[in-house]
Amino acid sequence: MICKLKGIYKRFDDLDVLNNLNLDINKEEIICIVGPSGCGKSTLLNIISGLIKPDKGKITGDLDLVGYVFQEDRLLPFKTVYENIAIVGKEKNHKKIIDLIYEVGLKGFEDSYPNNLSGGMRQRCSIARAFYFNSKILLMDEPFKSLDYNLKVNMIDYLIKLWDKSKSSIVFVTHNIDEALLLGNRIIVLSNRPINVSKIFNIDIHQSKRSLTDKHFTYLRNQIIDLLSNDKEE
Ligand SMILES: Nc1ncnc2c1ncn2[C@@H]1O[C@H](COP(=O)(O)OP(=O)(O)OP(=O)(O)O)[C@@H](O)[C@H]1O
Ligand SMILES: [Mg+2]
Repeated sequence: MICKLKGIYKRFDDLDVLNNLNLDINKEEIICIVGPSGCGKSTLLNIISGLIKPDKGKITGDLDLVGYVFQEDRLLPFKTVYENIAIVGKEKNHKKIIDLIYEVGLKGFEDSYPNNLSGGMRQRCSIARAFYFNSKILLMDEPFKSLDYNLKVNMIDYLIKLWDKSKSSIVFVTHNIDEALLLGNRIIVLSNRPINVSKIFNIDIHQSKRSLTDKHFTYLRNQIIDLLSNDKEE
C-alpha cells in the first residue's frame, strides 16, 4: 500500500463533506472515483495532495511525490509545451521530455505556446507534465471532461500506456462511467454528502484488454448506474 486515509472528516462551515472516510491507495493501481456532483470528490483529492487539511483523521504513506492534473490544464501561458513540461523536473532530461511529447501526440508542437493549442492539446500537455514529474501518486480530477469522444478514447489509451511504463498509482475522478470501466483496477462509488464509500468494484482484466461491449462491463455499468440513481439528492 502506498497511502492510507483513515477516518477523514472535513466540514465547510455547516456542510459535512467527508464523514469518516477510509481509503487505501495501493501500489501500481488506478482507482477511479465516481460519485454525485458536489459530493466532495475534489475535496478528497485536495486532502490527499495536502492542499487542504482534514478536520480529523490520518493520512499515512508516501506523499512526497504527489502529482495533480486539475480539471483545467493550468499551463503557464508564457512557456512553450516543452518548457511547461521541463519546469516540473529537478534535472532536465531532454530525451524523456521529447518521448513524453511524442507519446501524447504533440510532436511538432514542442515550441508552441498554450494559447496556440486546442483544449485537448493543452490537456495532453498537462498529462505529459504530470508524468514527467514522476509522481508516485497521480491525482486526476476529471481531466478528460472537455474532450470530444475520439480524443477521450485516445487520451485513455495514452494514459494506459504512460501508466504501464511508470507504474505509479493513479486516483482518477470522473463522472463518466465508461472512463472508469476502461481505466480502474478499482472503481469506488461514493455516496452523496457527507460522502462515504458506497461500493467498490474490482476489475482484474488488464486495461489494454478491456472492451465496453463485453457482458461483464455492461453488467458493471448497470450496477454503477443503479447505485448513482438511487442516491439522487431529494
Ligand atoms: N473551500 C470551500 N469552502 C466552502 N465550501 C466548499 C469549499 N470547497 C468545496 N466546498 C463545498 O463542498 C462540497 C463538495 O465540493 P467538491 O468540489 O469537493 O465536490 P465535487 O464532488 O468535486 O463536485 P463536482 O462533481 O461538481 O466537481 C460542495 O458543496 C462545495 O460547495
Ligand atoms: Mg470536483
